Amino acid sequence: MRSETIAVHGGFDHDPTTKAVAVPIYQTVAYEFDSADHAAALFDLEAEGYRYSRIANPTNAVLEKRVAELEGGVGALSVATGQAALYYALANVADHGGNIVAAPTLYGTTHTLLQHVLPRQGVDARFARSTAPEDMARAIDVNTRALFCESVGNPAGNICDVAALAEIAHARGIPLIVDNTVATPALLRPIEHGADIVVHSLIKFMGDTARRLVESSSTAGVSAGAITPNAFRCSTSRTTPTMGSFTSIISAKPLISRGRASSAMSKTLERSPNSSTTIRASPG
Ligand SMILES: Cc1ncc(COP(=O)(O)O)c(C=O)c1O
Repeated sequence: MRSETIAVHGGFDHDPTTKAVAVPIYQTVAYEFDSADHAAALFDLEAEGYRYSRIANPTNAVLEKRVAELEGGVGALSVATGQAALYYALANVADHGGNIVAAPTLYGTTHTLLQHVLPRQGVDARFARSTAPEDMARAIDVNTRALFCESVGNPAGNICDVAALAEIAHARGIPLIVDNTVATPALLRPIEHGADIVVHSLIKFMGDTARRLVESSSTAGVSAGAITPNAFRCSTSRTTPTMGSFTSIISAKPLISRGRASSAMSKTLERSPNSSTTIRASPG
């Protein structure tokens, strides 16, 4: 399926109960179980289905599937904000005493998360001297739990060599986490270049929500398999940053318009210095 089609229809065919073609907004916090055994299987993660909306919600699931399909990931998790997605992506892999090796050119609040918030929880950030793969490699030690970069840095506009960073990370047995907010999967699909986890703030080109609904900052993390969606759900279900279903629907809809924004971005990126990471010139 072309990415333009996925952006409109991904993750949803029609509602099996009502045959509605628009994505229903499920404003429920709880779900019925067929039996006690069914409930047990759901809570033991042995059966697919819904338990509480703080863990998963059918409306959010459409957004999650759509973003996962656009990125070529095995699944995704939507949470309330881009910062929440980054926090969970990093906290999910890093334990007390571990560290994250990060590119030095990052969105300001992400820098703050790494430099000030995670260290208070026992997770150190080690900022590489530059985004050059050799500098990133040099910052890794035995306690490094992940490499992290923005595919296109905000606001620096630098382009990271995702393939080279993935190779370095995998040689050390750690995942590469990429914030793909600025590029969007219309221009770059980091998983195709070896990234393990992709994170988005959907308030930018992907969701265009800032212009539509100021409060609906919304984000999805995409797992390529190193961390399963269930593992994500286990940690989030304890801390409840889940997006409301109304926000989810607002976020999923404008994915339709990201092609236009991205082709404008692609013209800018075409003029950027070379990188072995492929930036597609046009969406599709
Ligand atoms: C690259 C990048 N990552 C993460 C974020 C944080 O996203 P949110 O504002 O949805 O929390 C932003 C927000 O501007 C961003 O530009």
